[in-house]
Amino acid sequence: MQIRPINAPDDDFAAWYEVYAAAREADYPGGPHWLERELKVIYEGTEQHGSRLWLAEDGGRAVGAALLGLPLRDNLTLGEPEIYVRPGHWRRGIGSALLQEIEDAAKAAGRTSLLTYLEGPAGAPANSGTAFAEKNGFSRRITEISRVQRPPFDLDAITAAEEAARPYAAGYRIVTWRDNVPDEYLDEYARLQARLSTDAPLGDLEYEAEVWDEARIRTGEARRARMRRGSWNAAAFAPDGSMAGLTVITLSVDSDECGFQDTTIVDPAHRGHRLGLLVKAANVRALLADRPGVQAVWTWNADSNAHMIAINETLGYRVAGWSAGYQKSA
Ligand SMILES: CC(C)(COP(=O)(O)OP(=O)(O)OC[C@H]1O[C@@H](n2cnc3c(N)ncnc32)[C@H](O)[C@@H]1OP(=O)(O)O)[C@@H](O)C(=O)NCCC(=O)NCCS
Repeated sequence: MQIRPINAPDDDFAAWYEVYAAAREADYPGGPHWLERELKVIYEGTEQHGSRLWLAEDGGRAVGAALLGLPLRDNLTLGEPEIYVRPGHWRRGIGSALLQEIEDAAKAAGRTSLLTYLEGPAGAPANSGTAFAEKNGFSRRITEISRVQRPPFDLDAITAAEEAARPYAAGYRIVTWRDNVPDEYLDEYARLQARLSTDAPLGDLEYEAEVWDEARIRTGEARRARMRRGSWNAAAFAPDGSMAGLTVITLSVDSDECGFQDTTIVDPAHRGHRLGLLVKAANVRALLADRPGVQAVWTWNADSNAHMIAINETLGYRVAGWSAGYQKSA
C-alpha cells in the first residue's frame, strides 16, 4: 500500500471521491453528502481555508482517501482531518497509516489540536468512525442531531406557523434573496455570521470566533457559483435597519438531491420575536417556489439547542441521524 499527496484539480480526485462516497454510504446509507464537483471546488482551498489531500493505493487501486483541513484566518492551531477507507479494506491498518500522515502534516503546519466530525444514522450511535477516533485518542466534545425535511412539504402548516408567529414580530421586515448578498446588507451579514460561529452551542469544543468580512463573503459566493450551488437567503430587519436574523439554504443548481440548511441566527438583542421561525419559513417557501422537486434539506443542531429544534420540528424537519465532533490535543 502506498500513500501519496494529490491535489483537488488533478484527475486522481475522481478516485479520492469514489472512496469517500463508498465509505460514507457504508456507515450512513442515504446520508447527506457532497457531489464530486462540489468537493473538488471546496478542496481547492481559499485564503481562509486550506486543504491537503492524500490517496492510498494498493496494486494501483484507490483504497483510502484522507483530508487535512487548515483554517488560515482563525483557529490557526487547529487541523481538521477526515479519513475514508474503501469498504472491504477496513481493519487492515489503512486508516491508521493515513492518520499518521495527517498528524505529521498537521504538526509541521503548527497545528496542536485536531477536530473531526463523524456522522451516522439515528439508531446506530457508534460506527467505524467513532471506534477509530476513540482508539486514536480523540474524545467526543459535542453531539449534534441531524434532521431532514423531505417531500411532501406541508406548505399549509408552514404558513399557519408563520401567521401564528407574525404578531410577535411587529415592526420587523422579512426579506429574501437568491445567491449573492446585496451590497447594502454586507456589513450586517458579516456581523451575524461571525456571531454564529460562537453563539451556537459548542459543547466542549475549543473553537475561536471566525473572522468574517466582505472578502470572505465574496470569496465564498464565487466558490459556491463554481460548485454550481445556489443559495436561498432570508433575513429579518429591525425597525432601526439592523439585521436581526438570518438563514441560508444551499442546493445544487443541477440536482435536487441534497439541500443544506447552512446558517440560522437571531441576534441576541432581538430574540423572543419568533424571528427564527419567520426567516426559516419564508426561506423554505422561496426555495420550494423555485425548486419544487427538492428531495431533502438537511440541518444539524446541538442536542442542547432546544429552541432551534422546536422551530425545525414545526417546519417539518424530522430526526435522521447524528453528527459528533471529536477532538484531540497534541
Ligand atoms: C474509520 C475508518 C477510516 C477506519 O479505517 P481502517 O483502515 O479500517 O482503520 P484501521 O484498520 O487502521 O483501524 C485502527 C483501529 O481502529 C479501531 N477500529 C477501526 N474500525 C473499527 C470498527 N469498525 N469497529 C471497531 N473498531 C474499529 C480498531 O481499534 C482498529 O484496530 P484493530 O483493527 O487492530 O482492532 C473506516 O472504517 C472508514 O472509512 N469508515 C467510514 C468513514 C469514516 O467514518 N471516517 C471517519 C474517520 S475520520
